[in-house]
Amino acid sequence: MARTLVIGAAGQLGIEMVLALQAQEGITNVDISDIRVPDNDAVMKSRFLHMDATDEGAVFKTLEEGKYDTVYHLAAMLSATGEKKPIAAWDLNMRSLLNVLEAAKEGWVKRIFWPSSIAVFGPKTTRKSVPQNALLDPTTVYGISKQAGEYWCRYYHEKYGVDVRSVRYPGLIGHRSLPGGGTTDYAVEIYHVANSRKCYTCFLKADTALPMMYMDDAVRGTLELMAAPAEHIRVRTSYNLSAMNFAPSEIAESIRQHMPDFEIEYVPDERQAIALTWPESVSDDAARADWGWKPRILLPEMTHIMLEAIADQSPEVLN
Ligand code: SER
Repeated sequence: MARTLVIGAAGQLGIEMVLALQAQEGITNVDISDIRVPDNDAVMKSRFLHMDATDEGAVFKTLEEGKYDTVYHLAAMLSATGEKKPIAAWDLNMRSLLNVLEAAKEGWVKRIFWPSSIAVFGPKTTRKSVPQNALLDPTTVYGISKQAGEYWCRYYHEKYGVDVRSVRYPGLIGHRSLPGGGTTDYAVEIYHVANSRKCYTCFLKADTALPMMYMDDAVRGTLELMAAPAEHIRVRTSYNLSAMNFAPSEIAESIRQHMPDFEIEYVPDERQAIALTWPESVSDDAARADWGWKPRILLPEMTHIMLEAIADQSPEVLN
């Protein structure tokens, strides 16, 4: 059986990827690691390895002993937190990636997934339908680390034959885990606040449109990318991936379709400046052509799913 390790299993994406991989590969074939214990009983059914991904010795030991076919390396500090701790963000995001790439170069792991982000784009990038080969112009430390990481991935692929694959995720929205430290986090928080029948104070302005994706699409797309034959993967930096684009006023309106009394106010903070440097939409033609990517869930359906799922959760899950 194929063996898989998820690094960063306690994070927003990590929890969701682990659940999907457990279903696909079998719980005992998925090991998970993080510096904190994932707050999710189902996720914790997999073998948990306490590991600091910036610790070269620990990563090498884990990967050499684990005989993993695939490693999903999802540990990262996101855009907003990264601006508060720039050097720590760079150290975490880069050191951990290089540790995993070096381990793959040694032949200890066959395949790596590593996420990039729309944060690689910036003020000089086209704002709409950003093409695959658009100018990268990151302004945050997070974005700079993702841009550098993309080129490190391609370098290890071309120079050492490492099969590392990547996508540039838009903002990710799901109900099984909470985000932390990102600029797109509002699009998850808003559903939880709507569920508690309170007014949501949005940290972005009403009309700040950004690319977004429902989590199940992101997870499915990632598994499809990893299942594709290597020769189909022609982009070895990172693929643009697109699903929907909306501004806070539009997600609020979609919530009002279910909760007519839902209220939102706008109190932009430092994340507004970050959001303004990112595009409104990206073109994912290359991902569609090379490995058949296609989104399934758009805003109205996502809102329906999110509100139903969150209403069913016990209050402890939300806090
Ligand atoms: N969701 C991320 C952030 O907001 C972008 O990749 O930082």
